[in-house]
Amino acid sequence: MLACEPGATVSSAALPSPPPALLAARARDPYPYFAWLRRHAPLHTDRRPGRPTVCQVSRYADVRALLTDARLSKDPVRVPGYIAGPAGLNRHLVHADPPDHTRLRALVNTAFIPRRIAELEPFIADTAGRLLDRLEHRTHVDVIADFAAPLTFRMICAVLGIPPQLDNAQTRDTLMATIAPAPGHDPARVDHALHALLDTLIGGKRTGSAPGGTDLLGALVRASDESGAMSEEELRSTAYLLLLVGHDTTMNLIGNGTLALLHHPDQAARLTTPDLAPRLAATAVEELLRYDSPVRDATFRCATETITLHGQTIERGDIVSLLIGSANRDEAAFPDADRLDLTRAPNDHLAFGYGAHFCIGASLARLEGALALPLLLRRLGPVALAKPAEELPWRPARVMRGLAVLPVVRH
Ligand code: HEM
Repeated sequence: MLACEPGATVSSAALPSPPPALLAARARDPYPYFAWLRRHAPLHTDRRPGRPTVCQVSRYADVRALLTDARLSKDPVRVPGYIAGPAGLNRHLVHADPPDHTRLRALVNTAFIPRRIAELEPFIADTAGRLLDRLEHRTHVDVIADFAAPLTFRMICAVLGIPPQLDNAQTRDTLMATIAPAPGHDPARVDHALHALLDTLIGGKRTGSAPGGTDLLGALVRASDESGAMSEEELRSTAYLLLLVGHDTTMNLIGNGTLALLHHPDQAARLTTPDLAPRLAATAVEELLRYDSPVRDATFRCATETITLHGQTIERGDIVSLLIGSANRDEAAFPDADRLDLTRAPNDHLAFGYGAHFCIGASLARLEGALALPLLLRRLGPVALAKPAEELPWRPARVMRGLAVLPVVRH
């Protein structure tokens, strides 16, 4: 059953359009637009000739219900051409329905169980500490390039078993170019560079990986070569997916989280107080995930049959965009939803999704956030934004929300 509270139904007769000012500001600050949608158009349908129809869903209860609704498919083959992505790299678990999804998820899942992730704690703390050592004498720091990007990429490389010589900014740029291309980029070159990288990574496992090795990429290569549990296309797609989302999302958590804390110095101070920090870190990370969600919209879904919501219909074949960032600011689910409260409990946010596609990397992301954010704030000391918040560049992306740079200056 979809949530459709009595009295909250919106008449389909005269559906309002969002105010242009809210639309224009959306890339920088989507929250006023989301609040407008929740209030006036909880199912907002954009139908244009020659394009797939996109239905945006903005209320918490609806987003949560639809995240587990079997009438929505995750297979983009149903809407040809909608997911552009790099050629030949679309057959992974984010874009799969059962039974393929169940099979692919099981192959990846074992590497991310909380017990195995907890073993990474000393490595995360040590890597974060070393990155911060390098910034000790700098007055100007870019939290993204100098800290969040290298830290989060190193961790997903460690899980996958990527050799240190390939764990670098060039590899990161090759991946990021596929979702946020630089102006004037050539898509064919981006694709070529990515496939060359995957050839090196997967080829390296085929020739050099020790039998019985514990790294995830080695295990996936064996699953493909020895038991045939995944095809070559699935193997390449999965390697690409994990490298990208294992990094981009957690980088956004650290970037968006740091920005939120800079706007709330009292709460940031509590997170750096030695006897408060360890207890506060866990709830703080949940609240920062809720407050400015790194994955703003859920990934691709389309309707396989007609769905009625708030008196309107989602037609078969329509794309359904579940606005996680909006759901997480819904007053109906979170009292005083626009207020950051690092002690908030309960906090049933949807920042990691919900249901069968719930984030596989949630334990890793939570651990990285809980270790990195207090350490970063403590080691940076008193800092301020180096440019006005309104001028910070947000990376253009279909579902993610993250800063391109976060420049701060030490007092
Ligand atoms: C703060 C960091 C992260 C956030 C906010 C986040 C968020 C999400 C969300 C919202 C989904 C569900 C998407 C949907 O249903 O449409 C998801 C799925 C997924 N995430 Fe994360 N994620 C994070 C970190 C990671 C990390 C570190 C990894 C490690 C590789 C990862 C791997 C995945 C995978 C593989 C899926 C697909 C699961 C499936 O389809 O069954 N994520 N994530």
